[in-house]
This record gives sequence, C-alpha cells and structure tokens, in this order.
Amino acid sequence: MSDAALRIAWLTAELLRHNRLYHEENAPEISDQAYDTLFRELEALEGEHPDKARPDSPTRIVGGAAVSELKSFVHVVPMLSLQNGYRRSAGEEAPPSDDRWGGPYEDLLEWESGKPRRSGGLRRLLGEAAPRAIAYVVEPKLDGLAMELVYVDGEFVAGGTRGDGAVGEDVTHNLRTLANLPRRLIGAPAGRISVRGEVLFDLAGFERMNSEREARGEKRFENPRNSAAGTMRQLDPAMCRDRPLQFFAHSAGEHPDAPPSHHELLEQFVRWGFTVSPLCRRCVGLEAAIAAIAAIEASRAELPYEIDGAVIKVDNVALQEELGFVTRSPRWAMAFKYPPAQVHTRLASVLFSVGRTGQVTPVAQLEPARVGGVTVRNASLHNEHQMLRVLGLREGDRLVIQRAGDVIPEVVAAVDEPGREERPRVLYPELCPVCGHPLLRSLADEGKPEMVQIRCPNSFGCAAQVEGALRHFASRLAMDIEGLGEKLVGQLVAAGLALRPSDLYALAGRAPDLVALDRMGEQSARNLLDSIELSKGRPLDRVLLALGVPMVGEATARELARHFRGVEPLLAATVDELDAVPNVALTTATAIHGFFADAGNRAEIAALQAVGVRFVPPPALAAGPLTGKTFVLTGTLPSMGRDEMKLRIEAAGGKVAGSVSKKTDFVVAGAEAGAKLDKATELGVPVLDQAGALALIAGGNS
Ligand code: IVH
Repeated sequence: MSDAALRIAWLTAELLRHNRLYHEENAPEISDQAYDTLFRELEALEGEHPDKARPDSPTRIVGGAAVSELKSFVHVVPMLSLQNGYRRSAGEEAPPSDDRWGGPYEDLLEWESGKPRRSGGLRRLLGEAAPRAIAYVVEPKLDGLAMELVYVDGEFVAGGTRGDGAVGEDVTHNLRTLANLPRRLIGAPAGRISVRGEVLFDLAGFERMNSEREARGEKRFENPRNSAAGTMRQLDPAMCRDRPLQFFAHSAGEHPDAPPSHHELLEQFVRWGFTVSPLCRRCVGLEAAIAAIAAIEASRAELPYEIDGAVIKVDNVALQEELGFVTRSPRWAMAFKYPPAQVHTRLASVLFSVGRTGQVTPVAQLEPARVGGVTVRNASLHNEHQMLRVLGLREGDRLVIQRAGDVIPEVVAAVDEPGREERPRVLYPELCPVCGHPLLRSLADEGKPEMVQIRCPNSFGCAAQVEGALRHFASRLAMDIEGLGEKLVGQLVAAGLALRPSDLYALAGRAPDLVALDRMGEQSARNLLDSIELSKGRPLDRVLLALGVPMVGEATARELARHFRGVEPLLAATVDELDAVPNVALTTATAIHGFFADAGNRAEIAALQAVGVRFVPPPALAAGPLTGKTFVLTGTLPSMGRDEMKLRIEAAGGKVAGSVSKKTDFVVAGAEAGAKLDKATELGVPVLDQAGALALIAGGNS
C-alpha cells in the first residue's frame, strides 16, 4: 500500500473510533478541535486520491448524519416514577379487589389511611409523626416528556431525557432552543443542581404547526406528547427551534440545600426563572387536596397543555424522608389519573389499511373533533371482532371517541339512535384494498374470535407490503439508509426499480434510472447510493430488525445476534434452540423459526448476502471503562434490578461474579445487603452504591 493509502486507512479507522467514543460511549479521548484536524486531513487526502477513499469513510456521511445516536445522559440521582391511583367515574367498575369502600377518590383515601383492617397508608406508616391534617401539594400531571436539567454555578450545562431512570439521552442541544428554559438561574447557589420537569407542546402552537404542515402538504402530527418526544430526539436543533415547546419544572434531582417543603421548592424554582404550572396548590388535609384535584380536572379542557391526571405530594420534606420509597416510586406522592377524555363525533367512512406484514386494519375516518385539546380525524377500530361484534358498526354512526396520552385515539362505542338499525353494517372487504388479492382469514387462537387475523397473502406483490417492508428496512433503527424515505420508496416500487430489500443494492448499476426519478438530482442519487453501500456493514441485530422477523424488536434482535453471532446459525436453529435464548419466549421462538423456514425469506437473505450485506456479528466482549474488573452485586438497588445492573456492567466491559473473593474489584451493595457485604468489608473490597457504580460505568472515577 502507498503511504497515502495507509494514512487514509489509519485516519478512517481512527475517526470512526472517535465517533464511537464520542457518540456511543460518551467517553471522548480527543478535543473537538483535534478531531476536526484529523477529519480535514482525511478530506484532503481523499481529494487527492479519490480511488483510495474507503466506502465507510466518515467524510462520506453527509452533514450531521454521522451522529447516528444521541449521547447517553446519566442521572446522578435516579429519576423515579410515581405510583398510580385512578379517579373512578360513576358506575365504572373498580379493578378487582376484595375490600373496597367505593367512591371516585377511594384510591386517595386508601393512600392516606390504608385499607380498613389492613396495613399501609401514610398515617399508619408515620404513626405518631403524622399531623392531624397532612399538608399536600396538588399539581397537574403534565403529559409531556420527562427531562432533567443540570445547572453548575447557576449556568445551564446539560439536560437529558428520563430513559430508564438511570440513563437517558443527552438532548442539551435541543433544550437550548426552548424559549422558557432559563440559561442562567437568578440567585441560585454555587455547585451542581438538577431540576426536573416535563417538556410539553403548547396546544395552540401544536394546532398552528399542524395547520402549517398541512398547508405545505406534510402529514399532521397525531399527538403532542409523541411529537414532543420525537422533536427532542432530533439530532439537528433547527427542528426543535421551530416548534412551540415549553419546560415546566416539578421536582429536584441533585439539590444539596433544598428547602424544607415542596411548595417552597416550587417557589424557589419560580424565583430562579423556571415556569411552574400555575395550577399547583398547597392544601392542608386530604379533603382540600381532593377539591384541588377536582378543580384541575374541571379546567382540563381549557388548559393550554395536556394533562392526564393530578399529582399529590406530601409537602413536608422531613415527612417525605420518613416515608421513603417502594421499589421505583416514593411513598409520599401519587399520580392520580383521570379517565381518558371522550367526545362524540360522526363516522365518515372506514379505511382498511394494509400494513407491512399484510395485516388489514380498519381505521375510522371521522368528522374532525376536538378531544382534550387536540383535533382527532381518525381512530382505531382495532380488528374485525371489535368492529362487528363489539361496536356493531354501521355507516354514518355517531361514535364515542377517546384519547388517552400517547395511545392512538380509539372508538369506544357507537351511540344508539333512532333509525340506526336501517343503516348498513360496515364490513371487511373480500379483496385486498391495495392489490386486489383475495384476503386470508386465520384463527390465531382457537376460541378467541378477537384473534382472527385478516391479511393479504400477496407479500411480494402487494404495493402496501412491498413499500412497507422497504421503508422498514431502510428505517433509522434498522439499516438506517439516509435519504430513502416514504416518497422515494413509493417511486422506486412504482418504477419497478426495487421490490425487495436486496434490489436496493443493485441500484448502483441503474444510476440513470434513479436520476430520472422526481426530485432526484445526480448529487442526491450519489448520496443515496453511498448510504445504501454503507448499510452493508450494519451489525447483525439491525439487519435482523430490518428483515422484519415477526415479534422481533430491538431488544430481541440484540439477544439473537449476541447468541447466534451470524445469520447461518439462525437459519439452522430449531425452535428449542431459539427458545433457549435469554428473553425469547416460546411463541416468539416459533414465529422466528417460521420466518427463517420460509422459502421466500431464505431466498431474500441469500440475495442480501450475494450483494454484499455482511450481517456483522457483535464484538465478542465489550471493551469499556470496566474492562478487566470483576463485580459482585448484593442487596436491593434503589431503582433497578440486579439483572439490569449486571447488563450495564457487562456492556461497559466488566464481569459479574456470584461470590466475593480476593479477586473481586468492587461490590455493589443495595438495601438489605447481607453476607456478601460483610465478606467485602472483611477482605477490604471497595463497596459502591448504585450511583457510584453508574458513575464508574459512565467512565468517571469513584
Ligand atoms: S414528580 C419521584 N410531578 O410523571 C417523583 N412528576 O409517573 C418525581 N410527571 O416521570 C416526579 N407531572 O415525569 C412529578 N407534577 C408532576 C408531574 C410528574 C408529570 C411525570 C414525571 C414522571 C412521571 C411519573
């Protein structure tokens, strides 16, 4: 190899390694400036020797696209969740229970006083310490995206999503675009403080944005919560800047000098410059708290943002500390959920949509109706059983629609009205609405009529399925083929240029046909071909996800990849062997086996191999900050199972052993740790708590 070729190869490998350290492991080794210097050197060399440039060169990835993932964001104090209580509407049946005394606020009474003749309840837990009337703070339960913001010496430095409570995603770049997020706190103490709250869409702004999208011929966003989440996860902050998002503060994470009560904390937030919901109320006694909860519910439809309940918190921090936590939620707070918002509207028509797997699903097209501040135009009818048997749907029916949080709006009931019986029933079609092939009915489970599956069996000939499969193949979490979106897939299929994923890799030979497509210039065709080429090196788990193996999501795909380490062993695996993979249930194993036994699927996998898709196995053992270190786990960790801690340690390169010996590097101890902790102390093995272990995993020093 020439010097230039050698240098190009080295720079490519080195830059890819730094990309990984920076974006995936949150452990950069060099400064941005040093990275840029290497990058520019590679660019220059590739310019002089274009034939030596490597297909996976970081310079080939356009714009911000090299950032394939957000960095992780560690919560020094775990972000917990809340226990739920439910407001029961009149006549609504309570979940089965042996001992209830009824009423809409029953769950709150039980939370404060426990069940009659049973243990539990704040009062009993506090015993003598319980005041005659407990002071609470009642707040709206904001239906947004939970977020933690970190301030150092009053300066906003970083923020991230909740994730699993211990580690979320770093979205600092997007948070900086939020108009009401204080960059600098007014009068905040020195040191590190983290403030928690929700990022929400302002509903009027959400509607305005949707109207604008519609005017531009773009799709409307269905629900504010998911759109907020989607927006915050964008890599390019420009998108976030244009959207009407707000941050509402509701609790603290790290706050060494917190005020002695929750209402004072909220007041402090306001002084520092945060937005706090004006509906937060301090209430003395449960009766007052219930009135506040009812008042929030009554104002729900007029609120400028979405809520799905109220949160009630014990105000006094000393009492909070006394009460403590159960598993992942504090005993001193409860999320009190309201029933989902419902509204009446009329059925315009039923659309039968054909999914990527051929499944035909009925979707009610509605006269637009506002539900909980959002305009709903279509709602799920789930399946034939629901449509025919449960709802007995008829043309032009008046319907009850409900919307709860981030679930798709659904049709709950059809209203009985005079003349309804005369109108024809809505029936499933006999033929596929997309390709005209006769539909197939199968009973997935004998005796369960709701499990009837109606699908179009024309997998490789039905445009809906062909396009769905290609879109899925190219999607971000699968092969991540930049530039291959919905419109382009439609054109490729219509022009007969690609009908199966493997066809994509033959497009390189048909550049003139590509360039002839709408909105496709030479440069964009070249970019597309580059990203298709790049996708050949995707890891096995992503390729498995891309293939659309039934019942296989990200997590299962990862397990399968780790276990089988190649596509050949998977093709040969028996149901039993698949069932033996951790976290793969027998039904999943059977579905996976069926997929790999199918001749069409086997042919497609062979075709992908033939065009050079490499099904790259995962690295044998993760190398990371904990490489070479052995851990022993004991006791109950505050916010995660030991299994989860084990996975995290292993992902960082460490090993987890069953017993403590001189070879043990660290013991991670939670509550009620027993003999292993004693042994560690005896041998002088360092003992970490959950936060200490997480810090180590994140690459810090303990
Ligand atoms: S306090 C230890 N207050 O609800 C509990 N949470 O189900 C700290 N949420 O992830 C949370 N509104 O993001 C609190 N007024 C409010 C809230 C609220 C919404 C979210 C929160 C949490 C989830 C728990």
